[in-house]
Amino acid sequence: MQRFCKTVLQNIATKIMKEDLNLDWANLPFGYVPTDYNVRCYYRDGKWGDIEVSTSETIDLHIAATSLHYGQEIFEGLKAFRGRDGKVRVFRMEENARRIRNSAEGLCMAPIPEELFCEMVKKVVSLNARYIPPYGSGASLYIRPLEIGITPSVGVRSSSEYVFIILVSPVGPYFKEGFKPTNICIMRQYDRVAPKGTGRFKTGGNYAASMKSGNHAHELGYSAVLYLDPREKKYLDECGPANFFAIKDGRYITPASESILPSVTNKSIMQLCRDLDIPVEERHITVDELEEASEAGACGTAAVISPVAEVDDLDTGKKYVIASNGEPGPISTRLYNKLRAIQLGEEEDTHGWNTIIEGI
Ligand code: PLP
Ligand code: COI
Repeated sequence: MQRFCKTVLQNIATKIMKEDLNLDWANLPFGYVPTDYNVRCYYRDGKWGDIEVSTSETIDLHIAATSLHYGQEIFEGLKAFRGRDGKVRVFRMEENARRIRNSAEGLCMAPIPEELFCEMVKKVVSLNARYIPPYGSGASLYIRPLEIGITPSVGVRSSSEYVFIILVSPVGPYFKEGFKPTNICIMRQYDRVAPKGTGRFKTGGNYAASMKSGNHAHELGYSAVLYLDPREKKYLDECGPANFFAIKDGRYITPASESILPSVTNKSIMQLCRDLDIPVEERHITVDELEEASEAGACGTAAVISPVAEVDDLDTGKKYVIASNGEPGPISTRLYNKLRAIQLGEEEDTHGWNTIIEGI
């Protein structure tokens, strides 16, 4: 009885707070909205400390911290969804926990134990429950974990101390067009990463290195750059802040490359393809193969699936028209709907991808 009353009171409190927020859930951009709490944990003397809950949006950082000078920074991106049944689901949290460990290894930073990562994700989502967009709004709660080196050092060396922070923000679609095809472009004068460099790690430096090309593409009216492999500029690599895929002869093809981020979304879509008997090929894809693509898209946590209408090769002048009617193709639509349905609890989660956050 006591438990029942507590839940009822909590629900009423959440409802009142929700009304206070006054957010236009259905029209949220992909951006930062301040929320009530973030969570933090410090790594000092070779070990992680206690989880701290903070209401502050700032951190106190030494002016010589290695993250500021030498880019010792890694991050993640995952989402929580309010489902049709009212439950809150976080999509593939353990995969993101594993990937940030890999990024930490790549940048000589302290690895975050998977249990710590998951505990902090659950905590920050629960604490900010009133910011989880309602079912049907099309929006979600974006979860942004990040780790930075905080030891002061003017010499180039890795930190001995780190802070791991998770903040959240309610977000709408990354590409403002949502699930509508957009045009992207190839520009060979820019590289985002090096062949055996940091492309497979999720570190801020990769994104800094993509600003110039990204801005250039936006100025020309494209939604993103389709980067080519930095060694030969012959094969497709990835698409701005997302992986790339195409449908060719009914097969799902996606680049295999050592310089791209192993996308959790792409991995999930490949599994869905196998479930749906759509053949999958993860391999080198040459630029001219775009000629035979019947569909294409960018995929990622933020991007979900963003269909591609046309790829313009700005060096050769060749235009690869993919969605000539301006609509997403049937296979992309099927995959998009299936992925969303699993995330929103509308379809059975047969692979155990969702973590349900209890009590909110
Ligand atoms: N590639 C890059 C460069 C990204 O920033 C992202 C976003 O996280 C992805 C791919 C997609 O990865 P995921 O599906 O894990 O979000
Ligand atoms: C994500 O999809 O989670 C990303 O990190 C992309 C982004 C840099 C906005």
